[in-house]
Amino acid sequence: MSWYDRIAPLYDIGSAGSGRPRREAVAQLRLEPGDVVLDIACGTGLNFPLIEAGIGAEGLLIGLDFSPGMLAKARGKVQRKGWENVRLIHADAGTLSEELLKEHTGVGRVDNVLCTLGFSVVPDWEAVFARSWALLRPGGRYAIMDWHVKRRNPFSWFLNSISQGDVSRRTWVSLEQKTEDYSYRTSIGGNVFVAAGTAPGAASGALTSVSR
Ligand SMILES: C[S@@+](CC[C@H](N)C(=O)[O-])C[C@H]1O[C@@H](n2cnc3c(N)ncnc32)[C@H](O)[C@@H]1O
Repeated sequence: MSWYDRIAPLYDIGSAGSGRPRREAVAQLRLEPGDVVLDIACGTGLNFPLIEAGIGAEGLLIGLDFSPGMLAKARGKVQRKGWENVRLIHADAGTLSEELLKEHTGVGRVDNVLCTLGFSVVPDWEAVFARSWALLRPGGRYAIMDWHVKRRNPFSWFLNSISQGDVSRRTWVSLEQKTEDYSYRTSIGGNVFVAAGTAPGAASGALTSVSR
């Protein structure tokens, strides 16, 4: 049983303070009805209500996570809300690929990618970013929300302990390098950031109209 399987029952209570940057990250996706959204390391699905409100019943929400315990909590939310347009994938984000998405959802590319509090935890996050970036359609939006604590101090030690991650990672850098309209804002005393940008190339509208 992984760390996140163990803490899954209490995760949402412990994450109560993440609402504002979470809302900001989803707002940065500029969701439209019918969009296909990939939520990497989706955990218990705390982003799902915000994403569902943006994409509507005609959209598709794909949540991927490594922890069966976290996914079970996400599945519970989906069932309680009656969302029929959510696909949950139990997989290591390091294996993300068009084939994996197609196998589980029928679509190989997405309109939007979101990763909240994930890249500070996922091992080899740069490879995961590259894999997910390759799945984003031209004109699609990518948003990251995460901790970044520059100096090692008791606070960063505490965060690293409860997340089993590394909050000193500069996990926005790859996105900054890829996008021309890159934006970066911090909150919670400058320790949490929301970074976002658009994939270069012609925007062709939501994928759902052509591929589903
Ligand atoms: C701090 S939680 C964030 C959950 C959610 N994104 C949120 O904003 O609340 C980190 C999540 O990353 C997941 N995770 C860690 N390593 C992973 C991997 N290699 N592949 C997929 N998910 C992973 C954990 O299972 C956990 O659900």
